[in-house]
Amino acid sequence: MASLFTKRKKKILFLASGRGSNLKAVLQTLRNGKIPGQGIALVTDNPEAKALEIAAEFQVPTRVLDFRSFLEKSEYHRKLLELLLEFSPELIVTAGYMKILKPEVIRAFPNRIINIHPSLLPAFPGLAAQKQAWNAGVKIAGCTAHFVDEGVDSGPIILQAAVKIKEGMSERDLTLEILKEEHKILPLAIRYFCEDRLFIENGKVNIR
Ligand code: GRF
Repeated sequence: MASLFTKRKKKILFLASGRGSNLKAVLQTLRNGKIPGQGIALVTDNPEAKALEIAAEFQVPTRVLDFRSFLEKSEYHRKLLELLLEFSPELIVTAGYMKILKPEVIRAFPNRIINIHPSLLPAFPGLAAQKQAWNAGVKIAGCTAHFVDEGVDSGPIILQAAVKIKEGMSERDLTLEILKEEHKILPLAIRYFCEDRLFIENGKVNIR
């Protein structure tokens, strides 16, 4: 019998545009019951996203807003906000979502959007972060789970994991090593959020 003290599950909506390996890592953790949360939807801008198959595999409802089919891109962003408000999630997770969220979306869900980024922010924000790190010749790379604010990859940092660049490693090896770490810290950041353990003070996240 469920305990009276069992935490109510938080409603999580995912935004993803591609492969969906982070989505899968999170859905697996949710299925194992390790997070007091439930996936209520995957929304994608890409009808070919592999993430759609992953969501279906885990019985998570999906919605496609095909970005390319919108002549007016502002209409895409308007529809997206409408859809998000309709689902009314307590947490939005961007897991390889390749569009920049408009300020209206961020303001509608303040400190309720978590992103996974493949660098040790604030280094290497933006696209192809692993390549940026590789080209810069850093000796330690990694990934960051953070809240989304109105800047690019600039919101309060929740968790980070480091990856040492070893002798003989290729850029591809590095990308794969970083991805493995992403699959650990994203579910953990979501777990902390769902357990109400994240507090933001002066732009910094405290985990209690
Ligand atoms: C990941 O490297 C993530 O950090 C970045 O986009 C990639 C998405 O991969 N934002 P996947 O779709 O989760 O496999």
